[in-house]
Formats: sequence, structure tokens, C-alpha cells
Amino acid sequence: MSIHIAAKPGEIAPIVLMPGDPLRAKHIAENFLEDYKLVSTTRNIFFFTGHYKGKRLTIGASGMGCPSIGIYTYELYNEYGVECIMRIGTCGAYYTHINLFDIINAEAAFSESTYAKFAFGYEEDGFPHQGNVFQTINATAKKLKMPVLTGPVHSSDPFYRIDPAVPEIVVNNKCLAAEMEAFALFANAKHFKKQAGCLLTVSDIIPARKMITAEERERSLGEMTTLALESAISIL
Ligand code: HPA
Repeated sequence: MSIHIAAKPGEIAPIVLMPGDPLRAKHIAENFLEDYKLVSTTRNIFFFTGHYKGKRLTIGASGMGCPSIGIYTYELYNEYGVECIMRIGTCGAYYTHINLFDIINAEAAFSESTYAKFAFGYEEDGFPHQGNVFQTINATAKKLKMPVLTGPVHSSDPFYRIDPAVPEIVVNNKCLAAEMEAFALFANAKHFKKQAGCLLTVSDIIPARKMITAEERERSLGEMTTLALESAISIL
């Protein structure tokens, strides 16, 4: 048991898929996993461990933002011996050449967050994906004939901002989209010398103020979940 996860030692698999929303973790476990077990419910942040095509894996939620994913992934790497964490989330595209439902495999994450500086003394404002997850996702997408965009993303600290201009960190680093967690995940993985990747479905186009509906969100996340699970069976 760690401070924020109640699973017993051995109840978390070496590979963890991590949506932001606990109910999405539940939905994935119920619809994609076999012989799964709910192993932690602390703060209603659900973790399920089960099997996908014979591979043992855990689906657990991160909550929203770098502080939240920072806590869960730190404890998973440090206290549960987790080797690989793949975030599966949504993002808002900064450019109109990107379409709703596109899937982005994050090559790196840039952020104004002070998480990495104050946790580890890292001065960088961006970290690349860690280990082989990124490459495995690309190879799996190719095999499944699923188009995937690759590039850096912006792990934005605020969701709501008063300035409509594209932030400088986005322009300088050619970030494709905004999400809120990959930066802390990649920083933790770097610190613990573990693997981390991040798959995102485009749920809104920021300049066009376009957004997918709740029902569309469910369907489109199914495609990304399949890609994540099919990738996970070839990692480790
Ligand atoms: N900003 C930050 N995170 C997000 C967004 C966004 O526009 N859309 C989905 N996740």
C-alpha cells in the first residue's frame, strides 16, 4: 500500500494504462479486460488489474493535472515496481489542420508546470517520452492501419486562460495540442529510469471552438483504447 493507492503488493501489473477519469478506467476494465479485479478505490481513483489477450495489466486513473498524475505515477514506479505507464487521454488541438478524433502519440511534453523543478531539480521545460512505448505504439498503429499523428504536446497547467493567444511555449516547441498530464508522467519516468508514453484523442479544436459530444467521446476513445491495449501486449 502507498499513501494514495490501496492495492496490496503484487496487485498492480508491471504495465499500467492510465486514463484521467476513474469511470473511464472502470469502463475499459469492464469492456476490454478478462478476470479483472478492483484493487484500489482510494479517493475514488479506481485501479483494476486483469488480462488482455493473456497479458496481465492494470488500468488506473490519474485524475487531472500534473500534481495529480505526479502523485499516482510516482507511487506506481517507486512503490509498486511498475515498469511502464501509458497515459490515454484527450487533448485540444492548437491548429485547424488537426481534426476531431485524430489520435496523437506524444513525442514529448512541454509545460509551464514547476512539477519537475520542485520534485527533482530538473530545469527543463520539456521531456521526451521515455523508453520504447512511443515506438511500440507507432509500430502497432501501422500494423492495425490506424493513422496516428506524432509530435510534442503542451501539458497546460490551466484549462481556462484569459489570453486567447497561443502560448509562447506552444509556438516555440511546435506543440500540436494541449492536455494536462504528460509532462509530470515523463518527468517521473525519467527520474526512476522507467518507461512512459502518452496517447491522446483530439476532443476539441481550440481555435475553432469545436468539441466532440459525450457519446462521440466514448466511441472515439474505444479506438485509442484498442491501440493502447494492442501496444501494451508487445511492451515488456
Ligand atoms: N486544454 C487542456 N486539456 C485538454 C483540452 C484543452 O483544451 N482538451 C482536452 N484536454
